[in-house]
Order: sequence, then structure tokens, then C-alpha cells
Amino acid sequence: MAFTIKVNDQTHSVDVDDDTPLLWVLRDVLGMTGTKFGCGLALCGACTVHVDGIATRSCVMPIDSIGESQITTIEAIGATAEGAKIQKAWLDREVVQCGYCQSGQIMSAAELLASNPNPTDADIDDAMSGNICRCGTYVRIREAIKQAAAS
Ligand code: FES
Ligand code: FES
Repeated sequence: MAFTIKVNDQTHSVDVDDDTPLLWVLRDVLGMTGTKFGCGLALCGACTVHVDGIATRSCVMPIDSIGESQITTIEAIGATAEGAKIQKAWLDREVVQCGYCQSGQIMSAAELLASNPNPTDADIDDAMSGNICRCGTYVRIREAIKQAAAS
């Protein structure tokens, strides 16, 4: 079936099954491979994108539920004020280890800062709790979010 979706301020027409997860439309149809597959079960956060500004697990979001919503991915989050601060802080703090989880981490962190410009440690832990990092970069992630909030 044909769908029209809005991704990073561009409109795309795609022809996929109704229940195709957004993650696979982004990666396999649109070639946006910055968003990662981890679990496919909404348990790890690697596939996080923004749907109308809300951090969302794209691996469990069927394409037919998106409608007119605006999708933002890691490829474009740096164009937002919060995303730019987060990405700079990520580089300054050398957050990344293997990198696999980091697109999702950044998307969740950007949503947090957009909704809560001065998050407490508890706010950060709560917002980031669904994003798993096998490399254990959690301490640097928290420092980077604090730096971004202060910038
Ligand atoms: S791949 Fe979507 S939450 Fe793990
Ligand atoms: S940096 Fe390796 S999984 Fe997070």
C-alpha cells in the first residue's frame, strides 16, 4: 500500500505493507541508516526517533499509524536547538564507545531537553531509562546532558 510520510521536513511516498515498522521504512526504503535495530521489541531504545517531538520506538510503530505526524531522525536532530547542544556535548564528553546505541540515546536526550531544559539527575535517569548501552556509557551520557542543559 502507498503511504506518504514526513521525515526531517521532507515528504516521501513509500509502498510497503500496512504493518511495516517505521524503522524498516527509514532504513530499507529511505536509506536512513542512522536509526538502529537492537531488539525489535521496544526494549532497548536503539531505534528511537521523534514523532511530533516525542521520543518513540520506531521498531514497533507500524507505518499505517503515522498519518500526518512529523518524523525526526538522528540525521536531522542536529538542526534543532536541543539536538545541536546535545551533539556538541556528546563530542566534548567523548560519550560514544561502540556507538550502536547512541542515535537512540541522543534522540531521547534531545526530547528531554526540549521538554525540561534543566533536568535533575532523577529526571535524566527517568527519561533515559529505556535506552540500553551495552558499553556502559551511562555516566558520560548524564554528564553530557548536564553540559547541554547548561549551555
Ligand atoms: S530496536 Fe526498538 S527498542 Fe530495541
Ligand atoms: S556505546 Fe556501545 S552500546 Fe552504547
